[in-house]
Amino acid sequence: MQALVYEGPREVVVQEVPDARIERPTDVLVRVTTANICGSDLHMYEGRTSMETGRVLGHENLGEVIEIGSAVDRITVGDMVCLPFNIACGHCKNCETGFTGFCLTVNPGVAGAAYGYAGMGPFAGGQAELLRVPYGDFNCLRLPDDAREKENDYVMLSDIFPTGWHATELAGLRPGESVVVYGAGPVGQMAAYSALLKGASKVMIVDRQADRLKVAEKIGCIPIDDSQGSAVDQVLDLTAGEGADRGCECVGYQAHDPQGDEHSDAALNSVVRSVRPTGGIGVVGLFLPDDPGNADEAARTGKIPFDMGHFWFKGQTMGTGQANVKAYNRRLRNLIHTGRARPSFIVSHELPLSEGPEGYRHFDARDEGWTKVVLHPGS
Ligand SMILES: NC(=O)c1ccc[n+]([C@@H]2O[C@H](COP(=O)([O-])OP(=O)(O)OC[C@H]3O[C@@H](n4cnc5c(N)ncnc54)[C@H](O)[C@@H]3O)[C@@H](O)[C@H]2O)c1
Ligand SMILES: [Zn+2]
Ligand SMILES: [Zn+2]
Repeated sequence: MQALVYEGPREVVVQEVPDARIERPTDVLVRVTTANICGSDLHMYEGRTSMETGRVLGHENLGEVIEIGSAVDRITVGDMVCLPFNIACGHCKNCETGFTGFCLTVNPGVAGAAYGYAGMGPFAGGQAELLRVPYGDFNCLRLPDDAREKENDYVMLSDIFPTGWHATELAGLRPGESVVVYGAGPVGQMAAYSALLKGASKVMIVDRQADRLKVAEKIGCIPIDDSQGSAVDQVLDLTAGEGADRGCECVGYQAHDPQGDEHSDAALNSVVRSVRPTGGIGVVGLFLPDDPGNADEAARTGKIPFDMGHFWFKGQTMGTGQANVKAYNRRLRNLIHTGRARPSFIVSHELPLSEGPEGYRHFDARDEGWTKVVLHPGS
């Protein structure tokens, strides 16, 4: 099969690799029709993770079931399914309580597994023609009869729509509250969109990429360009000096200042300063225990200077981590099916798999207008 393979920093190639296949009776085999490039892929692409060369990338996958293992009894050949980026067993202590992002059995020794993802197990990604889905009955979300027509919406259920939603859950957002989202990449857009769907009274979003801010403004957010002045001051101005009720960090450890210099704490500490006393913060931007490529020595082992003083003094709360996609994807699917949600508004480019390397290059450079890249293997 054709697949997009990681060859080293800023080098991915589309090449022939052995076909994905059923390996265990509980597996399902999917012919991938849509696979997205994610901001998480960029950490790997830039060589800022432990990703091994030769591995197939891609954890935002949707496609058609073409074969099932002998122990699969819910999913059938021909189903259109969307796969949570987390691979989970469904029966461990964490899965049982909804924390499928922290499954204890699929990737022994580490809580959590994913397709084509550094440190998350040996599983191949879906930026390929075929994908092996472990525990298919548990991990496949079956899609309704408008699956093909709304493919670019449904594929967002694999990661960024539930992840954005998760950011607002971790922050404790309630209807009528205000929220500030740091990062107007795909994840930040989905956090802002989720906040609007949940009935937030005011959704502010911070970035310095004018094109991304414009996308968010179109759906009803207040754009805050931090290259034009302190984002924290702008948030305080917009909230009568109090700060937003809730804050979402959707940037992660490769946060930088508007001039492009990396400071892993930049967005995180700005959220603390932008949220009101007793407010809640959700951090879905990625942070890693090991980051050998960081210029800062402490940060190489995940130690990021955190503004504990302000955080504590304000009595804020904070939630972090990988999103548990399965906790939300069924309900968010129903919002798409009934026309109440249309997360595809962020898609800027649809490319065949063969043009994946181009997609990576542009998305990684945050080139103007490249807000979300969707690949269609087999097209
Ligand atoms: N927790 C999860 O389950 C989960 C899932 C998906 C992605 N992620 C992570 O979420 C993060 C965002 O993903 P994405 O796809 O939107 O990535 P992205 O790189 O496309 O977007 C990040 C955006 O943040 C902006 N930014 C950088 N520094 C900033 C700062 N100091 N203040 C404000 N904005 C700043 C950039 O200009 C960019 O637009 C990544 O770290 C990704 O790995 C986490
Ligand atoms: Zn992703
Ligand atoms: Zn589990």
